Amino acid sequence: MNVTDALQGRISVRAYLDRPVDKELIRRILDAARWAPSGVNSQPWQVAVVQGEKLQQISSELLHLAENGVQPAPDYDYYPGEWIDPYKGRRYECGMALYRALQISRDDKDKRREAALNNYRFFGAPVSLFFFIDRRMGQGSWMDLGMFLQSVMLAAREQGLGTCPQASVADYPEVVRQQLGISQQKLLACGMALGYPDEQHPVNQYRTSREEVDAFTTWFD
Ligand SMILES: Cc1cc2nc3c(=O)[nH]c(=O)nc-3n(C[C@H](O)[C@H](O)[C@H](O)COP(=O)(O)O)c2cc1C
Repeated sequence: MNVTDALQGRISVRAYLDRPVDKELIRRILDAARWAPSGVNSQPWQVAVVQGEKLQQISSELLHLAENGVQPAPDYDYYPGEWIDPYKGRRYECGMALYRALQISRDDKDKRREAALNNYRFFGAPVSLFFFIDRRMGQGSWMDLGMFLQSVMLAAREQGLGTCPQASVADYPEVVRQQLGISQQKLLACGMALGYPDEQHPVNQYRTSREEVDAFTTWFD
C-alpha cells in the first residue's frame, strides 16, 4: 500500500465486526506509529490500549453519565464555543452525511441521540486506544500528537484494520483515568476505536468530501 492510497483510503469506521484483534498486531501498529516526528523528538504521546472487560466498564460508565444528562467535562475544548463559517457549514454537512447513511431523518431526535451515544460504545469496536499528553507540555505537543494519531490510523489500515478517532470518549476524562489508574497529570486528548471494519454496514458506505487544494492554498511564485 503506497502512502497516497493509505491517505485516500482511510475513513472513520463506525461499525465493526465482532472479531478480536491480536495484541501483536496492535503492537505492530504502535511500533510503526512511534516513528512520527515531534518537536525536539519529545514524543509526548502516551497510549492506553483497552479491550475486554475494562472497555465494557468504561463504556457503561460513559453511557450512564451521558444518558443521565451529565454535562461533559473534557480536559480541553476541542471545538469552538461558537461555530463560524466555513467550519460551521462543514460541520453541518458532516452530521448530515452520517444521518443520511443511517437513514435518520432531520427531526428524529431520538435516533440522532442514539447515534451520538454509540460513540460511548466505541461503535462496537473490540479495542479502544486512549491518547494522553502530559499537562506540563506546551501547545506544540498537540501537533506531535496529531501526527502520531494519523500514523496510527494509517498503520492500522495497512494491517486491514479500521479506526475512528473519538474526541467524544474524552467527554468524561475522570472516568477513563480512574478506570485505568492514570494520574491527573495526564490530559486525555481523545480515544480511537480500532477493529475489523463491518464493510457491509451502511454507516461505512459513505465518504466525507474535502476542499480542493486551491481552496486552502495560496501560491507565491
Ligand atoms: C481528533 C478527532 C476526533 C474525532 N472525534 C470523533 C468522534 O468523537 N466521533 C465521531 O464519530 N467521529 C469523530 N471524528 C471523525 C471525524 O468526524 C472525521 O474524521 C471527519 O468527519 C472526516 O471523515 P473521515 O475520517 O471519514 O475522512 C474525529 C476526528 C478527529 C481527527
